[in-house]
Amino acid sequence: MAYCSARRKPPRAALITGASRGIGKAFAQALPPATHLVLTARSGPDLDALRASLESDAGRTVTAVDADLADPAGLEKVCQAANEAEIDLLIANAGMGVYGRFLDRPAGKHRATVDLNINAVLGLLHSILPDMVVRARENRRRAGVIVMGSSAGFVPVPNLATYAATKAFLLSFSEALSAELATEPVDILCACPGATRTGFGRSAGFQGDQLPFAMEPGDVARKALRALGRRRTLLIESGPGKLLQPAADARSLFAGLLRRSLDGATAARRR
Ligand SMILES: NC(=O)c1ccc[n+]([C@@H]2O[C@H](COP(=O)([O-])OP(=O)(O)OC[C@H]3O[C@@H](n4cnc5c(N)ncnc54)[C@H](OP(=O)(O)O)[C@@H]3O)[C@@H](O)[C@H]2O)c1
Repeated sequence: MAYCSARRKPPRAALITGASRGIGKAFAQALPPATHLVLTARSGPDLDALRASLESDAGRTVTAVDADLADPAGLEKVCQAANEAEIDLLIANAGMGVYGRFLDRPAGKHRATVDLNINAVLGLLHSILPDMVVRARENRRRAGVIVMGSSAGFVPVPNLATYAATKAFLLSFSEALSAELATEPVDILCACPGATRTGFGRSAGFQGDQLPFAMEPGDVARKALRALGRRRTLLIESGPGKLLQPAADARSLFAGLLRRSLDGATAARRR
């Protein structure tokens, strides 16, 4: 079954980064067949296999773009494909982590985490969002952005210090951007899952098993799609991270209040 918020029309075209596996692949599988998909990741063969399986749905069209988002040329290639497809949904999902004590892991891994989790997301949004907003105004259809944060973005996390800090950046940035664009026809959501059953931990260097309360990637993707247009921040947790819910509600509300008071102060000065 395809998932989409009841308040929004199904997207016409969506870019999903990090679509080759895990939560990104689950987003691709959850979107309705009428949505053209632009899927990107570094591993071309995995993307091609996913494209073939998705295109077996009647009417579904998929473009696969293999690119390294941490590389400016790769980022440019993805932005171009997204603009050509005239996407109205951007899911900035690709991410990586580096597990272990900060000083014990190579500096290059920490920098790569910042490049992918922060710089690539800023680059994508700055390049793609302006045209998405213009099209949304012209077509009278709301555009959407889902930024993949993490419950780790709410708290400092030892052994995942760099990763948690990048997700704190994304959380703050997305909430502020959503408030800035509140009068535009675009919904921005920062989806913040807790532990999810993917290969993420293994890639980050975590040797342990999946946590017992880890969620399924399909559930995470469907909850995020349903929340788009309904809230700015979505905490998706089935473990102890549920305790963070009041913080998630308060910060999302505060971003809106702050924008309104700043707008009010600017208007008062103009008078
Ligand atoms: N799993 C969890 O417990 C969890 C919890 C909270 C938040 N999240 C967030 O959810 C998002 C997806 O994570 P996941 O669990 O699905 O991880 P995953 O299974 O490791 O998938 C990561 C995806 O990102 C792509 N990717 C990695 N480096 C890339 C690069 N340099 N350029 C382009 N694409 C790149 C990977 O494809 P290639 O390797 O083919 O490039 C893959 O498709 C991430 O932002 C993660 O931080 C995950």
